Amino acid sequence: MVEKKEELYRGKAKTVYATNDPKRLIITFRDDTSAFDGLKIEQLARKGKTNNKFNYFIMKKLEEAGVPTQIEELLNDNEILVKKLEMVPVECVVRNVTAGSICKRLGVQQGLELKVPTFEFFLKNDALHDPMVNDSHIISFGWGTQEQIDEMKALSLKINDVLKKLFDDAGLILVDYKLEFGLYDGKLVLGDEFSPDGCRLWDKNTKESLDKDRFRKDLGGVIEAYEEVARRIGCPLD
Ligand code: TMP
Ligand code: ASP
Repeated sequence: MVEKKEELYRGKAKTVYATNDPKRLIITFRDDTSAFDGLKIEQLARKGKTNNKFNYFIMKKLEEAGVPTQIEELLNDNEILVKKLEMVPVECVVRNVTAGSICKRLGVQQGLELKVPTFEFFLKNDALHDPMVNDSHIISFGWGTQEQIDEMKALSLKINDVLKKLFDDAGLILVDYKLEFGLYDGKLVLGDEFSPDGCRLWDKNTKESLDKDRFRKDLGGVIEAYEEVARRIGCPLD
């Protein structure tokens, strides 16, 4: 039985705890919801539980498809047991349809279907607003190797194939999403979380946002939308 020990790190929406096993961590999903690099933070009832269960459900699907993840065990409503990873300090963003920062950066309209998915790296640094970086920066600063870069890209696009289909079958468009990887025994493994906090999901027919854009844009019904997505993909929340 794994025991929860001291708090190691408090992020914007999750807290990471040590355990009696040096190779395992416990992550607690809190109700805190943040946007704009932590500038806007609110507590939304049921958010921690919803994202914890959503993340577990998606990670299991990815494992079944052959993607290595850090998931070990769903412990309770808000907590999960995971492998302790040494995180690569970049975020991997895949886009199928234009929205968010790519529209501002390239002056393109929202909702353009991309011919093939884009893949972008961003440095994980709120103070700098997560600037975009490329392979050369990652290698030059020693954040990762060429091999790890190639694997992060390949896994991110493999994940796209699995999740685009899963959400499409539920009447949803997977517009874009962010992933974070880490190393476990020298091997690249998917870490962090996959939930409506870190992706854009639009209803196929109405194009309504059912993700964190509802929070960013003050549209209301944030958790209700997350719960609707969970219901549609068959992810149990209770
Ligand atoms: P962006 O349009 O702001 O670049 O974000 C693309 C997608 O990645 C969007 O679904 C939000 C997600 N994302 C995060 O969740 N956290 C981040 O720090 C970044 C850069 C993106
Ligand atoms: N990076 C996430 C977002 O843009 C969380 C945050 O910025 O606080 O919503």
